[in-house]
Amino acid sequence: MTKLTNTILVTGGAGFIGSNFVLHWIQNTGTDIVNLDLLTYAGNPDNLATLKGNSRHQLVHGDICNAELVAALLREHRPRTIVHFAAESHVDRSIVSPDAFIRTNVQGTFTLLEQAKAYWSELDEARRRTFRFLHVSTDEVYGSLGTQDRAFSETTAYAPNSPYAASKAASDHLARAYFHTYGLPVITTNCSNNYGPFQFPEKLIPLMILNALEGKRLPVYGDGGNVRDWLFVTDHCSAISAVLDRGRIGETYNIGGNSERKNLEVVRAICDLVDEMRPEGALGPRRRLITFVTDRLGHDRRYAIDASKIGNELGWRPAETFEGGLRRTVAWYLENSSWVDGVRTGAYRDWIRRNYQERIPQ
Ligand code: NAD
Ligand code: DAU
Repeated sequence: MTKLTNTILVTGGAGFIGSNFVLHWIQNTGTDIVNLDLLTYAGNPDNLATLKGNSRHQLVHGDICNAELVAALLREHRPRTIVHFAAESHVDRSIVSPDAFIRTNVQGTFTLLEQAKAYWSELDEARRRTFRFLHVSTDEVYGSLGTQDRAFSETTAYAPNSPYAASKAASDHLARAYFHTYGLPVITTNCSNNYGPFQFPEKLIPLMILNALEGKRLPVYGDGGNVRDWLFVTDHCSAISAVLDRGRIGETYNIGGNSERKNLEVVRAICDLVDEMRPEGALGPRRRLITFVTDRLGHDRRYAIDASKIGNELGWRPAETFEGGLRRTVAWYLENSSWVDGVRTGAYRDWIRRNYQERIPQ
């Protein structure tokens, strides 16, 4: 009979949220992490530089679609929990080339679930009960809200609109099915937009911070009236810890910051913070750099999360306000220029050209 260790297996733990989670977990618990990450353009071992030489964290460079590798890691490390972050995560990239999203988000999640089921079914009864597979998902699976609509709850019908959202919805359905059909102790979390340190600068907030810093144009899609519900990344990490600790198997938990903001408000706030922290008289107020550009195809208008279930059941609340979190985030990007230089590779510049060249008049 396989014995369980206290180790947890994290997938995608070199990405934005995954690396914040790994750092948070190592700091706040006494247990070890095996971190399986393919190190795609979005995965960066530098995010975990402070763990160098720390025997409690092991980074394994590999693919969640590789069933043999996943099976071997489970056999070797006998984790008590899997926390599954690995995914292709950028909506604009999913519009340009959806293939990788189907492969990693759907096929990869399926592979992990299959290997987790095989491993879990060999455990003894007591250990089968305490094992957890936490599937990290998104609010985008619920589609788009009108201005007056109620926020997404756990019972909102799925209506994914982008290839990214559709691939995540498919993975959520697979996770649900493995609980319902086989009894695998799965819990799914659906979280709103995260921001904070280590976010790859293809996403709105870091892209705007860096462009504002460098006096480049700030490309706001459409009319800038799209709304997102922002959550500081460490609050997402604490929510996942609460779900692992006290969440009920087979359930889904929505996680959100109760911080709805229009994109234009977010970009203006970034401009003002960069003006304050890096005054650049010759440039004038950075708000002048805001440029309205061609909209994202199928652009969801509004996301908002009703986080009352996780609040009432598990006592989780976000600790950071949007204003406080944004200030910390802007300061982090200004102070970490070597991290920024490290991620803005040739491939990054190719993506920026591809996505913005036709949008921004040269
Ligand atoms: P990210 O793109 O920053 O990181 C993804 C990580 O997964 C990278 O380290 C990458 O190398 C790794 N990866 C990709 N394909 C892999 C594969 N086949 N095998 C192993 N590793 C692979 O993503 P993120 O923003 O940190 O998001 C993490 C998870 O949280 C995703 O599942 C995403 O859908 C979900 N999520 C993100 C947000 C957000 O605002 N960023 C909000 C809610 C939910
Ligand atoms: O809601 C959760 C989701 O949030 C996660 O599941 C995704 O992984 C994550 O990428 C994020 O998706 P969004 O599409 O909401 O995030 P993004 O940062 O790409 O865009 C935020 C908003 O800003 C969106 O309305 C599009 C807009 N935008 C984005 C970029 C990159 C712009 O106006 N200009 C831009 O250049």
